[in-house]
Amino acid sequence: MAECLGALDNASLRTAFAGQGAFLYLDRFLAPEVTAQLVRSAEALLPEVNRNYLPGHKQGGSVSRHTIDRLAPFIAQLYRSPALLAWLEQISGDKLQLSPADDPHAYALYYYTRAGDHIGWHYDTSYYDGRRYTVLLGVIDQSSCQLDYELHTRDPERPDEPGSVQIAPGGLVLFDGDKLRHRVTPAGANEMRVSLTFEYVTHATMRPWWRFISNMKDAVAYFGFRQVFRQWRQRGSHERGKGGGLRP
Ligand SMILES: [Fe+2]
Repeated sequence: MAECLGALDNASLRTAFAGQGAFLYLDRFLAPEVTAQLVRSAEALLPEVNRNYLPGHKQGGSVSRHTIDRLAPFIAQLYRSPALLAWLEQISGDKLQLSPADDPHAYALYYYTRAGDHIGWHYDTSYYDGRRYTVLLGVIDQSSCQLDYELHTRDPERPDEPGSVQIAPGGLVLFDGDKLRHRVTPAGANEMRVSLTFEYVTHATMRPWWRFISNMKDAVAYFGFRQVFRQWRQRGSHERGKGGGLRP
């Protein structure tokens, strides 16, 4: 990772990121061997995909960080790469932290494998007490899906600027979740697209009500209740185990 990042012109990329209202796309970012390993992991995790359908907004599959931790630790390692984190700090100009252990979005895979899989226009809203940055990495793309986006929608001084990219395997998109309006257009028949997302924050704290809202959204729209609320369940069963009184 460090070798790959060392070849980039960070000063120009920082200027491009800031000029595009906290957005950057690089069609070649990961080393080919890293992309190849991600492809193997994405294929191996197919049986673990949790599918969701929210009429008018979203249809597709996802694999949460909890499943990745269990079955694809290479991805978790990549997420924590100090070289990657330092590079993201340089480009964003922010001091970044990893997302907390109970955030299923910290790193996750998104699968578009059936006709019509898509996600409608949205922001990656930060429920944290600070900014939330999204990294999207292209893993598999045998699809016609486009990441459509609009820059500057939250900047009254600048006109909205639409754009569209097809994220190549090994390519990167980086943006401030509260600033980039974006969507992924529907997959056609017999298409397959997998992208990997990493989420980094400037403050890893979240008020309890926002945590609840965020968890409900993740449970319904992405990973299912079992994944999202597993920590609470584990904590609960641990407490019951200690007390003993509530055990069946
Ligand atoms: Fe998003």
